[in-house]
Amino acid sequence: MQKTNEMILIIDYGSQYTQLIARKIREQNVYCLVHPYNKIKSIILENKNLSGIILSGGPNSVKGKKSPKLEKKILKLNIPILGICYGLQLLCKEFNGKIGQSSSREYGHSLIDLKNKSLLFLGVKKNNQVWMSHGDHIEKEPKGFIITSLSSKSVISSIENKKKKLFGLQFHPEVYHSLEGKKILSNFLFKICQVKKKFKLEDFLNNKIKDLKSNLKNKKVICGLSGGVDSTVTSFLLYKAIKKNLFCIFVDHGLLRFKESNEVVKIFKKKFGNNFIRVDASRIFLSKLKNIQDPEKKRKIIGKIFIEVFEKEAKKIKEVEYLAQGTLYPDIIESIPFFGGPTAKIKSHHNVGGLPKKMNLKIVEPLKDLFKDEVRLLGAKLKIRSELLYRHPFPGPGLAIRIPGEVDVKKIDILQRVDNIFINYLKENNIYKDIWQAFAVLLPIKSVGVMGDERTYNYSISLRAVTSVDGMTADFYMFSKKDLIEISKKIISNVNEVNRVLYDFTSKPPGTIEWE
Ligand code: XMP
Repeated sequence: MQKTNEMILIIDYGSQYTQLIARKIREQNVYCLVHPYNKIKSIILENKNLSGIILSGGPNSVKGKKSPKLEKKILKLNIPILGICYGLQLLCKEFNGKIGQSSSREYGHSLIDLKNKSLLFLGVKKNNQVWMSHGDHIEKEPKGFIITSLSSKSVISSIENKKKKLFGLQFHPEVYHSLEGKKILSNFLFKICQVKKKFKLEDFLNNKIKDLKSNLKNKKVICGLSGGVDSTVTSFLLYKAIKKNLFCIFVDHGLLRFKESNEVVKIFKKKFGNNFIRVDASRIFLSKLKNIQDPEKKRKIIGKIFIEVFEKEAKKIKEVEYLAQGTLYPDIIESIPFFGGPTAKIKSHHNVGGLPKKMNLKIVEPLKDLFKDEVRLLGAKLKIRSELLYRHPFPGPGLAIRIPGEVDVKKIDILQRVDNIFINYLKENNIYKDIWQAFAVLLPIKSVGVMGDERTYNYSISLRAVTSVDGMTADFYMFSKKDLIEISKKIISNVNEVNRVLYDFTSKPPGTIEWE
């Protein structure tokens, strides 16, 4: 694929935003990879022509004895380095600047004011909004460095040493809320590192098909297909390369959206014919979820049964050698035990990652270098219908994590109907595409209401709709009063089991997108 001499290396110190940095760089058609801070020596040695390095943020204090250290070798490469938050503080410490420890974290929107001329801020507005998230801050910049911006609270928000090509930001340019962040990263890439735009999806697609053909030859491959973007693009891509040697297994766990199972079958049967296999495993899933309330337990149970069902079905297809997975680059960066990175675990995400060891199959992950938005573009090049590509994301454990408390068939049925009304309203009113993800949550509480002259005692529903670029951070969507009134009316008048509709106006962080 991409030659490494045009690569930016991102060194991960554990920030929740590290992969966002990578995505923002890819968006600018520059190839980059993320590696944990303690596993970079070989990368540096192998890639003698790195164009630049970015040091990510992280949850530690550089003053801590056990905190991740700066790999001094990178300073000898004489290539530009940009430190972000923790990365900036590492640079500051290395060159004997003074770092102050704050008792509370500065967190959220902040305004900065540019001070000195800097290539990093070329074309950037003098006063602009950034996203801060840090505990420590610089009290005195190191010798040889200049201050290039100050926050409205007079915190040093950026420094640089032009001669040594070292740059540091106290804020996160990669986060959407840093309004000039894209420009700042672009300046780092093209003005400071002087990389040339190179990463092209078209080339990626053609090379990938060629590689898959030559590596897989006439071997059989099975693929777990959910109808979601990742597995759909994986299967279409593989089909292009190996045609009838691809077998797709769709495990229906009974926790899908309204009539979704039938839609998936219709679309993929048409494409893959008898090589598309649907397994109705809803009974097993529901019986194992009986009496289970804890969200992590639910996730683990679903993940485990999924593997068992898939394994059983896969065994029926003889002489399979490969298992295809829709793993994306963020899955690799986020998967802590595999990647060895320092990021804190928030939830056990469910995908088919547990399959290979038990099944003794070789793994093929054709999308593992790509981000979600790149996968969608690739899907369009493969002529996949845009309703499939631009569907809101749906979690592997399905509606089980949208029903806090115990899950049963009745609750699933109520939630499916409510969710369907909500989503249809968004589609009919042209709002769906402005929202990154929308869904309903069936709350485990009933409340008193009145309908006509009758007292009701029914379920409450909470609606969730967020805007996001990648699901890492999210803002709740601001509906108009008219929309809220209409949606609530439609739900309550069509679903008898519900008498109260709430709207969840929590962003991520501090909330997560899903409720469990
Ligand atoms: P959270 O709730 O962590 O979700 O803010 C971020 C995004 O990930 C989706 N999600 C999942 N996707 N398997 C998946 O494939 C999972 O187990 C899973 N859990 C959450 C969620 O819907 C949102 O888009």
